[in-house]
Amino acid sequence: MKVKDIVEFDISYLNEDGRGVGHLGSQKLVIPDVIEGERVSAVITSFYDGVTFAKLLKVIKPSEFRVKPKCPYNDICGGCNFQHIDYQKQLYIKHDLVKYALSDFNVKIDDTVGVYYPFKYRNKLHFVIGQKDKKPLIGFFKGGTKQIVDIPKCILHDDWAEKLYNIVAEYIKVSKISIYDIDSQEGALRYVTARHIDNNIIVTMVITNNFLPKSEWLYKTLKEEFKKVSLYLNINNRMDSKVYSEDFIKLNGDWNLQAKIMGVDIEVSPSSFLQVNLPIMNKIYKRIIDYTDAKEGSYIIDLFSGIGITSLFFAKAGAKVTSIELEKNSVNEARRLIKANNLSDKVNALQGDCNQMLKIVIDELPKNAPKTIFVDPPRKGLEGTASTLANSGAQRIIYLSCNPLSLATDLKILIKHYKIMSITPFDMFPQTKHVETLVELELK
Ligand SMILES: C[S@@+](CC[C@H](N)C(=O)[O-])C[C@H]1O[C@@H](n2cnc3c(N)ncnc32)[C@H](O)[C@@H]1O
Repeated sequence: MKVKDIVEFDISYLNEDGRGVGHLGSQKLVIPDVIEGERVSAVITSFYDGVTFAKLLKVIKPSEFRVKPKCPYNDICGGCNFQHIDYQKQLYIKHDLVKYALSDFNVKIDDTVGVYYPFKYRNKLHFVIGQKDKKPLIGFFKGGTKQIVDIPKCILHDDWAEKLYNIVAEYIKVSKISIYDIDSQEGALRYVTARHIDNNIIVTMVITNNFLPKSEWLYKTLKEEFKKVSLYLNINNRMDSKVYSEDFIKLNGDWNLQAKIMGVDIEVSPSSFLQVNLPIMNKIYKRIIDYTDAKEGSYIIDLFSGIGITSLFFAKAGAKVTSIELEKNSVNEARRLIKANNLSDKVNALQGDCNQMLKIVIDELPKNAPKTIFVDPPRKGLEGTASTLANSGAQRIIYLSCNPLSLATDLKILIKHYKIMSITPFDMFPQTKHVETLVELELK
């Protein structure tokens, strides 16, 4: 077999990455955009580490769960991996992705908790800006490449994203701002990012210098479409693909985006972490509050706490909370929110590395008080914090994970002293391969 050969094979299963796996003789083939049970024709694209990678040409025998993608840009964008799959089937697949990743633990995985309407859920948007034949492109990187595809309407975002697309397109014409070119690294405008809640929007123009032409026009035009607008500048000369530098400058409007989530007031800056799908997140938050049993007299340690939304929930329910978060801006925001929600006597927001600070925090809490630790780490998982957590002595650990593979690594360490009580996948990212998993553990 060689690159460009055309082959036909059956898809046996979807791997941990949501891609189909099939075999021709002893050769293992991996291919995106397929469903288990399908027969496909495909072209070989590359070989790596004993695996052959292929691109779909034609579905010869389609699965009964294959549906026509709603998005007209699905083939050129590559942002959604599962749009060709019926939504209920997506939920089963995500259940199985978690089940395969956690197969060592011999624990039942609950059904995936989904949403009623699996589109228009994202509250965050990162437009990449480029140009082709002197025409601006406002869209996303085509999956796994540096090629920018123009996407005027994305079904994962509500109509606000289309409005923003039109304003950015008009802004580029009106301001005559130069467009950044990835290859030559010349030009100014690189990204336009936004967060949107309840028709309030925070927009950041990421440019290579410190002057945004026609910024007043941009602010005024945004104000005509959205209720409250905050407009920021981020000056980013980095050579890598990181969207932001540290340099944020507020140009107009309120300092942050404000919202109310399950009774607590929150504020979000352009760079702080906020879950992208609030309807499903509310379901997860309710479950977390339930599992942690937050109440008067209980102590909760909130690790990897971001701007401290969960800390506010725990404190509102009566618990004393200590949170640890690495990113300074998020901790500053967390401290503001604690004050704004009148919870200063309940929450202590600490800045630092969980790995170094967890042990100190545990030692400072009253010895016999019931303790629960909630963790919500980034994709790479707990790393060094896992063994401190395993030896923490807390009665309960509640673990929210966005990556079943790093979750599996961490659980191997935690089960030395903890018993897994339940595992529930949640569909935070419908139409994509990603899945969020909530695990409840109790001290043995
Ligand atoms: C998945 S987010 C969770 C945020 C928060 N729980 C929420 O729901 O809004 C992970 C957070 O962990 C923080 N983080 C990453 N590594 C860390 C470390 N070693 N110590 C403390 N915080 C860390 C990141 O800055 C980020 O805010």
